[in-house]
Amino acid sequence: MPAYSQDVGAEPSWPVEATRRMNRMYRRQRHFYDGTRRYYLLGRDQLISRLQPDAGSCVLEIGCGTGRNLVLAGRLYPAARFFGIDVSTEMLTSAIAAISRGGLTSRVRVAHGDGTAFDPQRLFGIPRFDHVMISYSLSMIPGWRGVLQAAIAHLKPGGRLHIVDFGRQERLPGVVRALLRRWLAIFDVTPRDDLEQVLSSMADTGGAHLRFERPFRGYAQYAVLTFPSEPRIP
Ligand SMILES: C[S@@+](CC[C@H](N)C(=O)[O-])C[C@H]1O[C@@H](n2cnc3c(N)ncnc32)[C@H](O)[C@@H]1O
Repeated sequence: MPAYSQDVGAEPSWPVEATRRMNRMYRRQRHFYDGTRRYYLLGRDQLISRLQPDAGSCVLEIGCGTGRNLVLAGRLYPAARFFGIDVSTEMLTSAIAAISRGGLTSRVRVAHGDGTAFDPQRLFGIPRFDHVMISYSLSMIPGWRGVLQAAIAHLKPGGRLHIVDFGRQERLPGVVRALLRRWLAIFDVTPRDDLEQVLSSMADTGGAHLRFERPFRGYAQYAVLTFPSEPRIP
């Protein structure tokens, strides 16, 4: 089975506009994405090192980009299986090449999908995951609250949702913060300042435990939502 098993453009329900927008953004950038983002997408390695999936676990990344996180996690956790979706077919082309170069095609697969509405059963034959990770994607997706809802809907009981993204930068000097915000806006990136509040309300609804951190002087925000193994009795 190829890593990227979907026929581009085959379904009318596909997110054509979002795909065009992200393909425009990444058509050229994908070639130097990993080399440059290592300096400013902080906290991704910590997220991966804290994943700690049990043997046989299935892990999904929403907005997997070049596959950088999937490949690293795939190497670190050889007893788990990894899946990724992305709306950009350009990014997926890089991801497929990276997965293949890493010799991981039997355990790491990616497919075209919109994080706000996807069907992993149709894409991968898997309805729910033990872990879902979202790394620096919520800040680029206008319907980011819908992504969180979709992620939770596709977690198994006892599953965990892991998030890392740009934070409020509240402990950085004001001028640095202002410049950073302006620079991020050029790339269509909007830090989700109310992420903690939104996740906290989702945790209350689902009886989940929320761990929330603001590392690197608030440059990033990191969250893990852990759901109970037994569904909550209303
Ligand atoms: C900044 S990149 C992060 C990539 C990767 N997660 C990482 O940590 O390097 C954001 C990714 O989100 C993807 N993306 C944007 N909108 C999306 C959507 N609606 N559904 C799925 N992926 C989306 C982009 O195509 C891009 O690959």
